[in-house]
This record gives sequence, C-alpha cells and structure tokens, in this order.
Amino acid sequence: MMYVSHSPEDTQRFAREQAMLFTREGEGHPIVIALEGELGAGKTTFTQAFAEALGVHEHVKSPTFVLMKHYHIVGVPKYHTLYHLDCYRLNSSADLLPLGTGDIIHLPGTIILIEWAERVADILPRNHWVVHIDHIAEQERNITVKQNN
Ligand SMILES: Nc1ncnc2c1ncn2[C@@H]1O[C@H](COP(=O)(O)OP(=O)(O)OP(=O)(O)O)[C@@H](O)[C@H]1O
Ligand SMILES: [Mg+2]
Repeated sequence: MMYVSHSPEDTQRFAREQAMLFTREGEGHPIVIALEGELGAGKTTFTQAFAEALGVHEHVKSPTFVLMKHYHIVGVPKYHTLYHLDCYRLNSSADLLPLGTGDIIHLPGTIILIEWAERVADILPRNHWVVHIDHIAEQERNITVKQNN
C-alpha cells in the first residue's frame, strides 16, 4: 500500500492509523518493522506518532547514540513493549548481539521499529514489514508499507 504525505502532520496521521492496524491484526505476535529512507525522510517522525497512538506516554526521541530504547505500551490490547532502534552507526548486525535484539524480535507482545534496518538485514525475521519513505519534495513523501517476502 502506498500513501502520499504532504506534511509532517500527514505522516503522523498515517503512522497512527498504521499503528492501530498493525496491533489489531497482529494478535500479539511480535511485529518487526524496518523503516527505510534517507536522512530526514521521516522515519523518526513516523515512529513518534506510531508510539503515541499505542499509548506510549514518554516522548520518543531518536536513539541514534544509544542504539535502542524501549517504551511501555498501555493503549492497545496484546502489546506491552515498543522497541525503537536506530542502526545508522552500525557496520554489522553483530553490533546488536549484546542488546539481545535476536531474542526480542521473537517475543510476543512486542513491536520493534528499526531505522536504517538495511544495515542489519540479516537478523530480521523473514516475515518482517517494510515501511519505505521516499523524499519527493520538501514536504512531500511517498510512504510504502509492505510485507517482506
Ligand atoms: N511529509 C513529511 N513527513 C515527514 N517529515 C517531514 C515531512 N515534510 C517535512 N518533514 C520534515 O522532515 C524531517 C524528518 O525528520 P526525521 O527525524 O523524522 O527523519 P529520519 O528519517 O528519522 O532521519 P534520520 O535518518 O536522520 O534518523 C522533520 O524535520 C520533518 O518536520
Ligand atoms: Mg531518525
């Protein structure tokens, strides 16, 4: 599915809708979402609104320096924790091993959003989702959501 966003607010609205769809259909199975798109495409903007829609009360900030942050989900059934990763600085998925990411992506009730997931492609589960954001113009983005397979 493809969505054309004309502003950050558009992207936020779309992300909130996607959050509700994913969690409604996910049945508590872990959801892994690879966020692709160049610097400033809107990956963090998408994640912030996605988290907010799930009842994450803390403000989601980019985890560029800490690599991974987790947040409690309180607003939807069957999901309890959202993980946000930013792999921009990583050279290989081996750098994620100390964080336990390999186990986290299999935990029921978890949602994992990964910026720059291209850099750790080999650890993503086969049925992960891809949200690809194309920078078209200053305020315009094409957002594609698809299941990898
Ligand atoms: N339609 C749009 N959707 C999303 N962001 C937009 C849009 N139009 C303009 N922007 C701006 O683009 C920027 C997106 O920044 P954001 O941090 O979300 O990008 P990112 O993909 O996470 O970048 P990085 O790779 O550095 O982590 C913000 O400043 C936002 O206001
Ligand atoms: Mg970002």
